[in-house]
Amino acid sequence: MRPKVTVVGSGNVGASCALRLADRGLADVVLVDVLDGIPQGKALDILQAGPVAGADVKVTGANDYEATANSDIVIFTAGFPRKPGMSRDDLLWANYDIVKATVEPAVKYSPNSILIVVTNPLDAMCHVAHAVSGFPRQRVIGMAGILDTARFRTFIAQELNVSVEDVTAVVLGGHGDTMVPLVRYTSVAGIPITDLMDAETIERLVKRTRGGGAEIVKYLKTGSAYYAPSAATIQMVEAILKDKKRVLPCSAHLEGEYGVNGLFVGVPVKLGAQGIEKIMEIKLTAEENEALQKSAAAVKELVDVMKPKLDEVKSAGSAG
Ligand code: LAC
Repeated sequence: MRPKVTVVGSGNVGASCALRLADRGLADVVLVDVLDGIPQGKALDILQAGPVAGADVKVTGANDYEATANSDIVIFTAGFPRKPGMSRDDLLWANYDIVKATVEPAVKYSPNSILIVVTNPLDAMCHVAHAVSGFPRQRVIGMAGILDTARFRTFIAQELNVSVEDVTAVVLGGHGDTMVPLVRYTSVAGIPITDLMDAETIERLVKRTRGGGAEIVKYLKTGSAYYAPSAATIQMVEAILKDKKRVLPCSAHLEGEYGVNGLFVGVPVKLGAQGIEKIMEIKLTAEENEALQKSAAAVKELVDVMKPKLDEVKSAGSAG
């Protein structure tokens, strides 16, 4: 039987995820949204690309969660995007409500699924999904690190005029202005970038990576990026469905790793059929560690604001 993936939210990110999943024949897809007709119409459109793409998967749209029952993976993309000048954190309360309202029914119908959170502010929204679902941390994963590293890799490849495939990079921390591109672990076919570029160039590319999302929001004006975010999300889905044990940077609930306790922060993890099968710990320099702790503190600020609500959700869950 083919795997089943639900995509919550039929906006640009959600629809792009559905299209990538279907195009590659990775899974049957259910696209869910509260908007009447939009998920149905987009699903039908994607389905009709099947004969051309050579993919036999089922693609359906729905306004309720019955159709999503027994999904292997549920991707959460629903939420308000940023407008120019907004930070991801400005979306906290508007998207808190949406993530809570969508995770509840999704996990009711797919109690054994793996949740991939894409809605911003990313790391904070992972806390909402974790609290509402009551799932173990292996099955609640945030998408951000692959996108941030992809941006860094793109800029490095452009700068050196080499293939993007040969550039590997590691970005740690929250998906925000404090993210930590690890220059020391960034290389081109194994050659450290510090051997290939001067410090000033590297700093410029790091800065552009940190502002990579905002750069696109500024152009689009009415929304944020979706092609690269959906590509990153589907790489996670593929690693899980094919049990690839890929080592990819994702937002994970740290429980002591990297000296961080009880916070979702971006770190390299091993992704396989069980979800997060291992959190890979890297020995950091004092400077890198300081940057990571600063980034974790920025996530904590948002989580602290939500804490009374999250505690309520958790105690309701354990009582029920
Ligand atoms: C970005 C948004 C989606 O980084 O967070 O483009």
